[in-house]
Amino acid sequence: MRKNIVAGNWKMHKTHTETLALLDEILAKKQDTPAEIIVAPTFVNLKAAQDKVAGKGITVAAQNMHQAEGGAYTGEIAAHMLTDINVKTVILGHSERRAYFHESDALLANKVDTALKHEMRVIFCFGEELKDRQADNHFNIVEYQLRDGLFHLEKKDWVNIVLAYEPVWAIGTGETASPEQAQEMHAFIRNLVAKVYGNEIADNLTILYGGSVKPDNAKEIFSKPDVDGGLIGGASLKAEDFLAIVNGF
Ligand code: G3P
Repeated sequence: MRKNIVAGNWKMHKTHTETLALLDEILAKKQDTPAEIIVAPTFVNLKAAQDKVAGKGITVAAQNMHQAEGGAYTGEIAAHMLTDINVKTVILGHSERRAYFHESDALLANKVDTALKHEMRVIFCFGEELKDRQADNHFNIVEYQLRDGLFHLEKKDWVNIVLAYEPVWAIGTGETASPEQAQEMHAFIRNLVAKVYGNEIADNLTILYGGSVKPDNAKEIFSKPDVDGGLIGGASLKAEDFLAIVNGF
């Protein structure tokens, strides 16, 4: 179902104590908002975060998960281990996992299938690199990532899919896509989903933008018709900045 969402991807930041302190500050300062607020701490802090915010208007998400149901995969986390602690949203396909951990579109398709099998909601990340945009190849790259990662799904599966367009050249760089660039790509994505799955699925799809979203640019980006919110990195680590972005709606 299409909705406004602001999700904080904390990446490899915040100890247990720091996690609880940041969540306490977000809970204390957050105001009524039309947006769903999601936070994605590290694995080691998920249970403490979930216990802290359950029932208080904040959703906890995992930053990743393994495609297998369990077994000899040292260092990995299985879907049922997340749902067992009531974490039912997972970020998959982040560019840092694609780059540093060589996660292919085919592997990500398997991860998506496992997450959906466990009735989890998937925030599926994708986006072009600077060289792709400079070569005017960014629409093709995004289409390949969506086709190879998601277009095996059936229509019924899309109720649990949230898309996060994150141009790699904007992640952590301070080089935010302009609101017009974001809208252009989001409209392309929505039209592509409509072509393959029909207008009802496309019109009900939540598409987030990620890549150097800050308090001073969030409102204009979120005002675009096909932008439904943001996936926030650096600015999600300070309650004041994160909530300023949430209040961009
Ligand atoms: O997943 C969101 C993240 O990649 C964006 O990072 O620091 O550019 O907001 P940042």
